[in-house]
Amino acid sequence: MADGARAEFPIPANCFAETVTSVHHYTDRLFKFRITRPASFRFRSGEFVMIGLPNAEKPVFRAYSIASPSWDEELEFFSIKVPGGPLTEHLQKIKEGDTILLRKKPTGTLVNDALLPGKRVYMFSTGTGIAPFASLIRDPETYEKFDEVVLTHTCREIAELAYGKELVEETLADPLVGEIVAGKLKYYGSTTREAYDRTGRITDLLTSGELFDQLGLPPIDPAIDRAMICGSMDMINDTKSILEGFGLEEGANNAPNTYVVERAFVG
Ligand code: A2P
Repeated sequence: MADGARAEFPIPANCFAETVTSVHHYTDRLFKFRITRPASFRFRSGEFVMIGLPNAEKPVFRAYSIASPSWDEELEFFSIKVPGGPLTEHLQKIKEGDTILLRKKPTGTLVNDALLPGKRVYMFSTGTGIAPFASLIRDPETYEKFDEVVLTHTCREIAELAYGKELVEETLADPLVGEIVAGKLKYYGSTTREAYDRTGRITDLLTSGELFDQLGLPPIDPAIDRAMICGSMDMINDTKSILEGFGLEEGANNAPNTYVVERAFVG
């Protein structure tokens, strides 16, 4: 029996106990899983929630971006597997039918509400930082707010890009949102430790202008461009300074502006 399946501990009062509906492993570092969604659980696309396993009296919780859009009847998550990580060493063993604890209150700043209206939105991600954008690119509201959505995903290796590539293909083929997304969503994947069509850190691709050249877009203009960033702390800080160099300013839920950030799940 997987660690996640043990439910002999009481379910904390501030949690839902949900059932795993599917698990897909991409690499030895990355996997996706889907769980049932409680009828009363509402969230805005791009938000995160605390999740844990019912395997201890005081379970370990970690923040996870919800990767599914707000209209989806299930909840999807994209996770790293950290060797010896307090949650992920157990979470990576979950199987269909296991129980996941979900805290009741989602939150976060990578939401459409925290950005001022604009023409184009860039979503810059590395590793599992693509998760909140997996939610946002499947939400029709994103395309009501922006004419164009540019999703960048940088990983060490090609195999780590698979979740994002699959996501974009499935979104374009989706009967609910495919037509809305077509012609508006641009995907840009790059690797840093394996040869690929496009290589380099997003920070370098932005600074050199290679990103804009390859996408056929002008450099970022604060009058029309907006951005969201999700990755490691270092990636966030480095990308922030570059965006600020283009004239973008950080926003929040109570003070929308031209870019927003959130740290990708770690541990
Ligand atoms: P690199 O291979 O050069 O470290 P990780 O798997 O460690 O979270 O990294 C995911 C991706 O983020 C990798 O391609 C990594 O590049 C890149 N990355 C790491 N640090 C930064 C940073 N400070 N700015 C931009 N990209 C970064």
